[in-house]
Amino acid sequence: MKDYPFSAKVYIWIIVIVASILLWFLSHDISYNWETITGFIFFAILAAITDSLPVSLPRGGRVTVTVAVAYASIVLFGPLVSVCIMIFANLISELLSKSQLYKFTFNCAQFILATGTAGLVYQYLGGENYAVSFNNLIPYLGAAVCYITVNAIAFSIAFSLVNGVSIYVVWLSHIRWAIPNMLLLAPLGLLMAKLYTYTGPMGVILFFAPLLLARYIFKSYMDTREVYLNTLEALASALDAKDKYTKGHSDRVAGYAVELARQLKLREDQVEAVNHMAFLHDIGKIGISDELLTRVGRLDVSEFDKIKLHPVIGEHILKELNYLGSYTHFVRSHHEKYDGSGYPDGLKGREIPLGARIITLADSFDAMTTDRSYRAKMTPEEALEEVKRCSGTHFDPELVEAFVALRSEKPAEQTGAFLEAASAAEK
Ligand SMILES: [Fe+2]
Repeated sequence: MKDYPFSAKVYIWIIVIVASILLWFLSHDISYNWETITGFIFFAILAAITDSLPVSLPRGGRVTVTVAVAYASIVLFGPLVSVCIMIFANLISELLSKSQLYKFTFNCAQFILATGTAGLVYQYLGGENYAVSFNNLIPYLGAAVCYITVNAIAFSIAFSLVNGVSIYVVWLSHIRWAIPNMLLLAPLGLLMAKLYTYTGPMGVILFFAPLLLARYIFKSYMDTREVYLNTLEALASALDAKDKYTKGHSDRVAGYAVELARQLKLREDQVEAVNHMAFLHDIGKIGISDELLTRVGRLDVSEFDKIKLHPVIGEHILKELNYLGSYTHFVRSHHEKYDGSGYPDGLKGREIPLGARIITLADSFDAMTTDRSYRAKMTPEEALEEVKRCSGTHFDPELVEAFVALRSEKPAEQTGAFLEAASAAEK
């Protein structure tokens, strides 16, 4: 835990202490029979399997159906056994992934808190064990909401303290996505409990087989998509690195664009699309000769026309990406200008997609603040003045306002700090 901020260490210890107290409180309620023991063994193995088979999401984080197992065990066995099931699952999955001790400890404590309190809520609202009936619906919903709330709060504070980002940013980047997923797993948990009540372990196993197959197919798709995207991003970085003046350009443009997209409070899937498209905005330069791209002297009209093809070539390359394919017009339109004097389509104002308007501003700001063969770089303050001067002609005035507000609060050197912190945390 030596790399963690002091406040994060204190917080993790507090969570561990509170979880231990809860576990001690729950242990007073211990009573078991053969049915509970076999149920524990079955669900613990099931939870360990589901927790060891996560699917990584594009922006980090992971999806498992372990939450559904937790819900089902709360209905069937009550809080103490459910907590033990989740501790066992976490132990196996963390051992398999060889995660660090502090992460394992925090995850265990978080599981104890979320499952334990959800189990207590189920009991206090009158929920009965082994009774999947209509009467237990309200207690079940209460337990699910409690599980999600405790998890979201515990995780948000930890992520915020570890990475030095605000809780609001954690909400936007992680929690807002996880909540619908966890809620959708509530009916699955109920179904699992019902199946177990009526058919025993065999019914649950038969139910899980197609789910595991679906997971395998989804994971294969995500992996393929990731590889394709990584290859393209590596190619974009290689393109930048060819010229000493553009080294790291795509990365910085993506950083500025993401910050601006978040300042505009776009949805996280839109921020993700802006991030990828900004990184890949000049990928079409693959189709332009190096001699033209790195020429120091002036280009004639026909040569410049060839360079102007790169947004269209880029869009064509990226169209192959199924998931991000619908955002490739951001790349096509990243040289459009707000007054309609840009290329390739001469779009004007809001005809230009918002993502493209964001990338245009980020791209130009980075070009202004880095040395080029034909001119020295501007200071961030000078570049901001230039951005303001071009508001309404080159750039969207609303975006200029947001960008100036953002950059005034944050020196240029800090760009991408959040992204680095977030990606480090996701590794
Ligand atoms: Fe470009």
